[in-house]
Amino acid sequence: MLHPLKRIMVTGGAGFLGSHLCERLLEEGHDVLCVDNFFTGSKMNIEHLLDHPHFEFMRHDVTFPLYVEVDEIYNLACPASPVHYQFDPVQTTKTSVHGAINMLGLAKRVQAKVFQASTSEVYGDPQIHPQPESYWGHVNPTGIRSCYDEGKRCAETLFFDYHRQHGVKIKVGRIFNTYGPRMHPNDGRVVSNFIVQALRGAPITLYGDGSQTRSFCYVDDLIEGFVRLMATDDHIPGPRNVGDPGEFTL
Ligand SMILES: NC(=O)c1ccc[n+]([C@@H]2O[C@H](COP(=O)([O-])OP(=O)(O)OC[C@H]3O[C@@H](n4cnc5c(N)ncnc54)[C@H](O)[C@@H]3O)[C@@H](O)[C@H]2O)c1
Repeated sequence: MLHPLKRIMVTGGAGFLGSHLCERLLEEGHDVLCVDNFFTGSKMNIEHLLDHPHFEFMRHDVTFPLYVEVDEIYNLACPASPVHYQFDPVQTTKTSVHGAINMLGLAKRVQAKVFQASTSEVYGDPQIHPQPESYWGHVNPTGIRSCYDEGKRCAETLFFDYHRQHGVKIKVGRIFNTYGPRMHPNDGRVVSNFIVQALRGAPITLYGDGSQTRSFCYVDDLIEGFVRLMATDDHIPGPRNVGDPGEFTL
């Protein structure tokens, strides 16, 4: 058996994107530590990986510190859809902010490279379409989506300050809408809504007049983007938009 190339931790590894990332990293021969508290993730998502000799699962909440020896960290832990992140908004902000502090503190201590799963939501309710990384956004700190949007913005701030102040190697990827196997059927987002309604033979719901735009990226392509961003030179911290550049009306 090949010796594992790197020890890589994936927080939120039992979620939709995290489980695909764990699979991809195992395929490349790495040693993968999947950390998750199963808030929105599930054991079913990683069941097929549990017997893999290079896969380890740890049930842990990233709002608490964690000390493990790893070479790279992908920080994905955070509920991602409005229905989930608005369920306990205080915990959502804590997960983004305390989670970022804990992962950056760990990265600093063990000199690991750390990737942050940020989001297109850092642009808020954007006035520019499509949004380039140089756009600072049009945001609201007090609304019901702010626990997610502002939590992710603060996490980005922490990533860049750990980078500037402590020399931590960071990669910030701003993820746009992604779809694929193991996405949550009840996350209230358009792809899952359409598929679930179609499977039930129910009418398809369009919000408004359907003229609002979305971009859709297949999960394998997104994960390819994560791995490629992580592999860029250390002087490229991001932020980088990761997703499909095309926007479509519904
Ligand atoms: N799916 C998308 O289209 C999309 C878009 C933009 C950003 N993102 C970001 O990508 C990441 C993964 O999203 P996803 O779609 O896979 O969502 P998901 O809900 O399937 O996965 C998130 C995972 O994080 C875990 N988690 C939540 N809070 C935790 C905590 N405090 N400690 C440990 N684990 C915790 C959940 O149990 C879950 O397994 C999130 O950070 C999300 O903000 C996703």
